[in-house]
Amino acid sequence: MLRLQAPLPEQYTTASPDELAERIAAAKQTLGERLFILGHHYQRDEVMRWADARGDSFRLSVLAKERPEADYIVFCGVHFMAESADILTGDHQKVVLPDLNAGCSMADMADIDSVEEAWESIAEITDIERVLPITYMNSAADLKAFVGEHGGSVCTSTNARAVLEWALNDPDGPQARQVLFFPDQHLGRNTGHQMGFTEADMRVWNPRRDLGGLDEADVKDATFLLWKGHCSVHQRFTPANIEAFRAEHPDGVVIVHPECSHEVCVLADEVGSTDFIIRTVDALPAGTVVAVGTEIHLVQRLDAESDKDVRSLDPLICPCSTMFRIDDRHLAWTLENLVEGNVVNQIAVDPDTAHWARVALERMLSIT
Ligand code: 13P
Repeated sequence: MLRLQAPLPEQYTTASPDELAERIAAAKQTLGERLFILGHHYQRDEVMRWADARGDSFRLSVLAKERPEADYIVFCGVHFMAESADILTGDHQKVVLPDLNAGCSMADMADIDSVEEAWESIAEITDIERVLPITYMNSAADLKAFVGEHGGSVCTSTNARAVLEWALNDPDGPQARQVLFFPDQHLGRNTGHQMGFTEADMRVWNPRRDLGGLDEADVKDATFLLWKGHCSVHQRFTPANIEAFRAEHPDGVVIVHPECSHEVCVLADEVGSTDFIIRTVDALPAGTVVAVGTEIHLVQRLDAESDKDVRSLDPLICPCSTMFRIDDRHLAWTLENLVEGNVVNQIAVDPDTAHWARVALERMLSIT
């Protein structure tokens, strides 16, 4: 979704990297404890070097909540992450996204109108009281609010299994019979398989078709109704990539993110969130050749910062054009404005939406 970032003043577009670094350092020092910069693992090095904390989307949401003393949370990540930080932080805190065009195309694959429409259609066929909506963190605040209002929870790639176990199997949980999982079908499917479910228990809900493109029996019987959404970067990794890597490096290790397709996850040695990928690479013996199936900035940083030979699982991978959008110019512009008392690019979720979205996020945090 285009959010129309205003063009930067010329002093930022023409500054050299060294000049920008000096200016960022000076602004950061002036703002001191009032400022907390969060960096998602997919950010560029030129931005990540300034982060006070790095993390996956779960860890960053916890960190944002744990910093009540910071007036400004500058979120070097994407729109849905900054929204979640705004929802979880206090009213006195302002969350800022240095480039408003930093988004997630997968998050945009589910919108509130289509989800409400799907919910109504499902309610005509099955006992809706036994269906629980679960949304991946990569979703807009109004979808999180929908989930909160309907008894469900947010999940991230770190805790999707714990959240789905709570939804379906926990005697003290809601004991749902079915879940509507959006927007990433792959995370839902991969987690369902980890829990012992099979393809027969899952159906893909296509929001562009009547009744999701399913027949009534499927809607009634499927334990998992998986929204037809995907991450364009992770969906590019294929079983053929893994075969080619293994042919060249029989002792190599393959680690992928659970947004990859199930066929890829089955063949990989390890599957997990960005934090998990980092920890797993760290624990491998020095010199191990590792193929990683996730966004390229994290892969390159792992290669540069570890003693392993880390490369992308797909040698032709193209970077996610929105996840790494924030650069040193936007960061310098944001921080210098904060020094002047101008809060640019504030991400503020309206109070009603924030209330129910907070319910869904807090539910996730209490489960995990
Ligand atoms: P993580 O929660 O693993 O950091 O993933 C976030 C994301 O957007 C993956 O594409």
